[in-house]
Amino acid sequence: MTPTSYFPHKNNEMFVEDIALSQIASQIQTPFYCYSSAAIEASFQEYQNAFDNQDALVCYAVKANSNQAVLTTLAQMGSGADVVSMGEIRRAIAAGIPANKIVYSGVAKTQEEIEYALSLGIFQFNVESEPELELISQVASAVNSTAAIAFRINPDVCAQTHAKISTGKAENKFGIPISKAQIAYARAAELPGIKVQGVDVHIGSQLTSLAPFAEAYGRIAELVKTLKADGHDINVIDVGGGLGITYQDEVIPSKQAYADMVKEQLGELGCKIVLEPGRSLLGNAGILVSSVVFIKTGEERQFLMLDAGMNDLIRPSMYEAYHQIIAVNQNNRELKPYDVVGPVCETGDTFAKARQVHQSNSGDLIAIMSSGAYGAVMSSSYNTRMLTPEVMVKGNEFAIIRNRPSYEELIKQDIKPNWL
Ligand code: LLP
Repeated sequence: MTPTSYFPHKNNEMFVEDIALSQIASQIQTPFYCYSSAAIEASFQEYQNAFDNQDALVCYAVKANSNQAVLTTLAQMGSGADVVSMGEIRRAIAAGIPANKIVYSGVAKTQEEIEYALSLGIFQFNVESEPELELISQVASAVNSTAAIAFRINPDVCAQTHAKISTGKAENKFGIPISKAQIAYARAAELPGIKVQGVDVHIGSQLTSLAPFAEAYGRIAELVKTLKADGHDINVIDVGGGLGITYQDEVIPSKQAYADMVKEQLGELGCKIVLEPGRSLLGNAGILVSSVVFIKTGEERQFLMLDAGMNDLIRPSMYEAYHQIIAVNQNNRELKPYDVVGPVCETGDTFAKARQVHQSNSGDLIAIMSSGAYGAVMSSSYNTRMLTPEVMVKGNEFAIIRNRPSYEELIKQDIKPNWL
């Protein structure tokens, strides 16, 4: 799937599935996120097809986009959920994802969160440290329950991705070192309230090659053999998420190639495979739609000043991420280099420098592509800008799936202390 697969231009105008984007923008003020339901369904189906000859469960990584409409779309196709907080568990359950398809990752789960997850009977806790194991055991024993666990193993593999989204190196805070795994599993086996069932690994996000995955899974396969020999009943391998998407011109291995590699590395172990994809399901299923406020001519460059800013989509500022920037109506205009910036009072509020965009005027619609994952969920109301609304398209229909809040709602969240 490319950034524009579900957002094609027809007669110089960008569509989302079968609706002209300009039609949506006439009914909802920019900036807003816009998702294609067909794109979400197609990427989920690609995973299902790729893994249809393996015992596999796709647990969508809710953090990538946690809107109820997105979660419900995936729930109805049979997806489980990978969650990292009580809030995400609540969202997944509210969208109809059954607790027995929920895996719970995260390095600092609190007692309250563990109690809640346990009360629902989730499929698996992905335990990231020895103290977490002890706490889960205490909580489970206190309520006469049993927590099914996997340790998240840090395989010390370089994911070859951006440093801020690389998680599988020894220096990262995630998981327990593979060298300490045997001791950790031995401890888990003797603790009350704990049932050892699996091994979990996630080495990073936006991986564009299968090699780091294969290296990590190879190490996991060796570990699983060792653990089985030690007498542990390992029947689940959670392979994490991380398969990348095309933002610019990256060539990403297909989901089938990924599935074949998983089978090659782990197939002989006879374990159920859990997958935690986020970006590869949602990334190219969404865009951020914005309007040009001004064209400003600086000394050396022209600025395309948008009504969307870093508070709406932080990825370019935070990870130097590349997103294609496309004029919604192209009208055979020429391409021109622009610095594409937002309204927030920071130099970092820049989406792209010297980017070729069709010559634009104030009021024109601009689409920032590949924004379906880690877009809306990472947005904020910095600069007291309203949280970005979201729209979902299906065929020739669209629905607002999150409203823009009002200023009153935002301001009344604050409470003046009584001495003021
Ligand atoms: N599982 C675990 C334990 C994770 O930490 C993550 C992502 C995933 C699965 C899903 O990974 P994905 O399939 O989406 O690559 N905000 C960053 C990405 C952070 C990823 C965090 N963990 C960005 O915008 O690039």
